[in-house]
Amino acid sequence: MRHLNKRLLLLIHLALASLLCASIACAMESEDCLGCHSEADEVGEELFINGTTFDTTAHAEMGCASCHESVTDEHPDDGLTPSKASCQDCHDTVFEEYSLSTHGANASCSDCHNPHTVQSAVEVSGFDMNGQCASCHEIAETVRTHEEWLPQASLHIEAIPCITCHTGSEDYVITMYLIQRDNNSRYSDFIPASREDLEELAGSESIQTIVDADNNGTISIAELRAFNGNPKYKNVRLWGMMTPETVTHSYQILDNRWDCSFCHASGPSAMQTSFVAFPHNGGTYSRLAVEKGAVLDVLNGTPDFYMMGATRSKWLNITGLMIIAGGMVMPVGHGTLRFFTRKNREGKGH
Ligand code: HEC
Ligand code: HEC
Ligand code: HEC
Ligand code: HEC
Ligand code: HEC
Ligand code: HEC
Ligand code: HEC
Repeated sequence: MRHLNKRLLLLIHLALASLLCASIACAMESEDCLGCHSEADEVGEELFINGTTFDTTAHAEMGCASCHESVTDEHPDDGLTPSKASCQDCHDTVFEEYSLSTHGANASCSDCHNPHTVQSAVEVSGFDMNGQCASCHEIAETVRTHEEWLPQASLHIEAIPCITCHTGSEDYVITMYLIQRDNNSRYSDFIPASREDLEELAGSESIQTIVDADNNGTISIAELRAFNGNPKYKNVRLWGMMTPETVTHSYQILDNRWDCSFCHASGPSAMQTSFVAFPHNGGTYSRLAVEKGAVLDVLNGTPDFYMMGATRSKWLNITGLMIIAGGMVMPVGHGTLRFFTRKNREGKGH
């Protein structure tokens, strides 16, 4: 229904755009626009649009002119400022939900989204989602305020996109991203591995084969185990984040996110589904499904991701729940204020 409405709107929009074009004889296609706007030295940084990235977005289908209807053939010599569609015109449901939320007055759609680079929620990494918030909510400051009640606040914020706790988004899964040591130096921090880094590592194979060794499109626990133990990949790890599949814009402070058991004792159900996400050059990700239950098999499957109270090890669960109930912090060293500075945590399962 939601989608039907949007398709209809899009059709109406395209029809209007072509009518407009007919009346003012505009011939400029997206390609023509990008001829200038994808050249930074032609138009300057401010007006630069990355054409390759734009082409991968859902907005590319509509073309530049459907959002900048008033652009004429004489542009830019006509000296007129082109019109800019508002998001509300096409995304009325999201707009309404967001406007009603407690955050509606704090930031506009364009504060979090660039209309020329939009991607669907599953293609955006958890890091980049938090990057959208960080432009106003400095991470170090957020860690500081959350630390007052949340142990390992830094780790939590690195492992949970803000929107998992601050919107009614749902259908949580564990998405794992490949991270690697900066400069391959033994003591340096971990950062998200780029496409080029992974291509180098994979050699002549596709980058998926780093984890999906038999390249059959799904990742088994045996493949995860082999990846974790492969010395060739000693500088690469999987970083798990608890991401929503269904994103809403109902920003709020949810009482049950205070409740540690919302995640930690939710048991296997939330942890059943996981993916490994592989980066593309434009900054988006695509995912391969992991065998059900891999995240629960913390000792073999995902040694770097461990949700107390939700693993297959009864002993770990009991210790974990005791720690949560007692409000104690696990002695695994404190999180630091930079992403991916966590030290080797291999010892924790012992
Ligand atoms: C010949 C090069 C050229 C082409 C082709 C071109 N533009 Fe521009 N565009 C410019 C320049 C230069 C400016 C800055 C004009 C100014 O500041 O007066 C501009 C400004 C704009 C702006 C205004 C940004 C603001 O300041 O608000 C928009 C929007 C825009 N262009 C969209 C388009 C679209 C859409 C197309 C295709 C239909 C297009 N342009 C084609 C060169 C071009
Ligand atoms: C889905 C609608 C949409 C499409 C499609 C779209 N734009 Fe935009 N564009 C906008 C909006 C909205 C803004 C104003 C953004 C803001 O206020 O931050 C904008 C701003 C701009 C600007 C000003 C600089 C900036 O980034 O804010 C330029 C230049 C521009 N667009 C060019 C283009 C070109 C060229 C294309 C096609 C390749 C295009 N736009 C496609 C909605 C769109
Ligand atoms: C002319 C209509 C139109 C306008 C204006 C428009 N969009 Fe879209 N947008 C679409 C369509 C159509 C889609 C693809 C179908 C869908 O996701 O509903 C889309 C998809 C998206 C997506 C998801 C991308 C994906 O791959 O699923 C985001 C995020 C988005 N738009 C944000 C915005 C923002 C922010 C603005 C305002 C700056 C905006 N849109 C303006 C029509 C529009
Ligand atoms: C405070 C930040 C923020 C604001 C403001 C915001 N969004 Fe989003 N939006 C997100 C995040 C985070 C996602 C997850 C995907 C991503 O990061 O792009 C998302 C996803 C989306 C999607 C894709 C949903 C999907 O299921 O794939 C659409 C469409 C969208 N936003 C439209 C809008 C529109 C329209 C507005 C303004 C009414 C808006 N957003 C305002 C942060 C924001
Ligand atoms: C353009 C700036 C901006 C961006 C981007 C932004 N925020 Fe905010 N946010 C604010 C302001 C301003 C306030 C009100 C003052 C405060 O509490 O810091 C606020 C308040 C909040 C609050 C306090 C509770 C509430 O809703 O009243 C939460 C939670 C929040 N933001 C979450 C987020 C998340 C999550 C993101 C990213 C998806 C985000 N914000 C992105 C500006 C922003
Ligand atoms: C584990 C769930 C969780 C995560 C993850 C989380 N928050 Fe919160 N956040 C909360 C809860 C619960 C509160 C209410 C605490 C209070 O009122 O002291 C809160 C309060 C806030 C507030 C308002 C009060 C304050 O402390 O300033 C802001 C702003 C905020 N969060 C932003 C963020 C941002 C930005 C992120 C991501 C970088 C984030 N939060 C991640 C659960 C979370
Ligand atoms: C929104 C889900 C969520 C909520 C709410 C939540 N946690 Fe967590 N917690 C996680 C995730 C995800 C991790 C990180 C797992 C990883 O990366 O190994 C984590 C990790 C931890 C760790 C560190 C374990 C380790 O191995 O280092 C402790 C301790 C912890 N949580 C305690 C708590 C307590 C106490 C609360 C309530 C005040 C709480 N959590 C609330 C999701 C949550």
